Amino acid sequence: MTAPTEAGWLEGRLAPVPDEIDATGLEVTGALPPELTGRYFRNGPNPLPGRPSGHWFTGPGMIHGVRLRGGRAEWYRNRWVRTRTFTDKNARFVGDDGTLDFTAVPANTHVIPHGDRILALVEIGLPHEITPEIGTVGPCDFGGTLTTAMTAHPKRDPVTGELLFFGYGVLPPHLTYHRLSADGARIVESREIPVPGPTMMHDFAITEHHVIWLDLPVVFDLDLAVKGRGMPFRWDDAYGARLGVMPRDAAGEVRWFEIDPCYVFHVGNAHEDGAGRIMLDGVRYRPEDFAASWREIGGSANPAQDAAESDTAHLYRWALDPATGRVAEEQLDDRAVEFPTHDDARTGLRHRYLYTVAGHAVVKYDLRDGSSSAREFGDSASVGEAVFVPAEGARAEDEGWLLAVVSGASSAELLVLDAADLSRTASVRLPRRVPAGFHGSWIPDARRGHPAA
Ligand SMILES: [Fe+2]
Repeated sequence: MTAPTEAGWLEGRLAPVPDEIDATGLEVTGALPPELTGRYFRNGPNPLPGRPSGHWFTGPGMIHGVRLRGGRAEWYRNRWVRTRTFTDKNARFVGDDGTLDFTAVPANTHVIPHGDRILALVEIGLPHEITPEIGTVGPCDFGGTLTTAMTAHPKRDPVTGELLFFGYGVLPPHLTYHRLSADGARIVESREIPVPGPTMMHDFAITEHHVIWLDLPVVFDLDLAVKGRGMPFRWDDAYGARLGVMPRDAAGEVRWFEIDPCYVFHVGNAHEDGAGRIMLDGVRYRPEDFAASWREIGGSANPAQDAAESDTAHLYRWALDPATGRVAEEQLDDRAVEFPTHDDARTGLRHRYLYTVAGHAVVKYDLRDGSSSAREFGDSASVGEAVFVPAEGARAEDEGWLLAVVSGASSAELLVLDAADLSRTASVRLPRRVPAGFHGSWIPDARRGHPAA
């Protein structure tokens, strides 16, 4: 008899918490900027007690929220997102007739504000609307206008306010581009994009005039899907790897650029360089790095790569030149990083700074002069994605704060780092540890349609 396989995503820094709690009047160290009045929400998988998930990515979403107001930290609470799979353990994503239920999903990957709503996202299903108190309203298809799944990494155009995103599907259409109105009421454009097959497309990028696609060799595997546990995707050398440049203007087709095989979960940003080239920054996994990471969180890797020990990813820049059809790639740093973030007001535009998480540190890159700085939190600290919040009336791109959850074995903090000087910090003590998760957002009280309360 073989021993049960250890499920690494149920232990250590990823181990779920067993329940939902509330705490008020949180202890603050240092001075919280009073203008940080709003909510920091962060999403991540958190399997229910007694219902272990088959892969880190498939656990039900739990949102951890911290309410800041006028220099105080008023509350912390955590809530599961009540999707159909959460409330009904018999709910199935794939029905007996082969149809997909986009509400039978774990809404576990991201949480964003758009228009009047706060949306919890997972790439295989519909967004789920949640309240400012982290209650679940229910699935949202924007008045019936969204008929595919929705990526967890939409991009808000800082000029138009529209939300650009895509849905990928294991059944055709494999890729559909969508544009959601600035008020979030309805989808105003949907466009099917021809791709060779169904892949796990986690992120994409936009520039002022283009959409950038990442068509990479992590493909849907029907055999794994039939077995029914975990994530039915695996590396496929035969698929190839390509980046696509698509004019946002509906008239144009996608121009594809073959690249060295790799996987990219997360894009940093992209922009047009003024000389006709598209510059894309992202965190790149070599095939063997992807295989090692994927296995660790419950996936099936290509057996040929099972011996790989590496599990690191690095910040890269791809320069795509539509005039020549050439693509150049450059590794920007030798640190192993993930969770790239930037000032969302620069999405699709030229940016100077990127922020990432590297081991137990937050790293800031200055892409103009090539320098970087890091703030270390020690070997026992699990450091989450650092979300940039611009200061009111900011003049410099890094004038603002980085919000990140740093968790230890029994307690956690919400850190508020000065983005211009990472050594300057305030923090909010949270009442319990917070499992390492995925993505979050700062949701200010004073956003369009939401005057400060
Ligand atoms: Fe992600």
